[in-house]
Amino acid sequence: MADRTSFVVGDATQLEFESRFDAATLVHVGMNIPDKSAFFAAVADQLAPGARLGIYDLMATGDPNGLSYPLPFASDASGAWVASPDAYVASLVAAGFDVAEPIDRTQLALEATAAASAAGPPPVSLATLMGPDFDAMFANIGAALRGGLLAPVQIIATR
Ligand SMILES: C[S@@+](CC[C@H](N)C(=O)[O-])C[C@H]1O[C@@H](n2cnc3c(N)ncnc32)[C@H](O)[C@@H]1O
Repeated sequence: MADRTSFVVGDATQLEFESRFDAATLVHVGMNIPDKSAFFAAVADQLAPGARLGIYDLMATGDPNGLSYPLPFASDASGAWVASPDAYVASLVAAGFDVAEPIDRTQLALEATAAASAAGPPPVSLATLMGPDFDAMFANIGAALRGGLLAPVQIIATR
């Protein structure tokens, strides 16, 4: 698909594309973005009317103060900006989006991680990328999912 794709490395909170897009996704990145209202307002500015934004982030379904670190997306609490599905929806609505009911995908994530554990580690895995804290990160994220503190949540918003 090389003739139909291009990649830009940059700060998602500083979007300055000249064109307006008809779709956008945010996959497991919102947990690192402190001001989601400003962010979603900036995203809305880059989307054409009727465009869809698909979000799949780890969201707070319990008290974030109960999280143990390191997590795969944050070494400690200073880099973690998890927010509840309600907070996402409020920020999206304030930015002008129509927002579908959030869908909790925890069961899917638990089944996928159980299947991966049963299959054993592949020769090259996420551990290769994440480094020596990988085991602690995934023990902590597993505990947060099972304990109801975090959930992978899907939100579809329409501009
Ligand atoms: C948990 S990783 C998820 C990566 C990928 N989306 C995935 O699902 O495998 C979070 C990523 O968000 C990136 N990130 C965090 N804040 C960002 C920002 N303001 N602009 C662009 N990328 C950001 C980080 O560099 C990191 O690569």
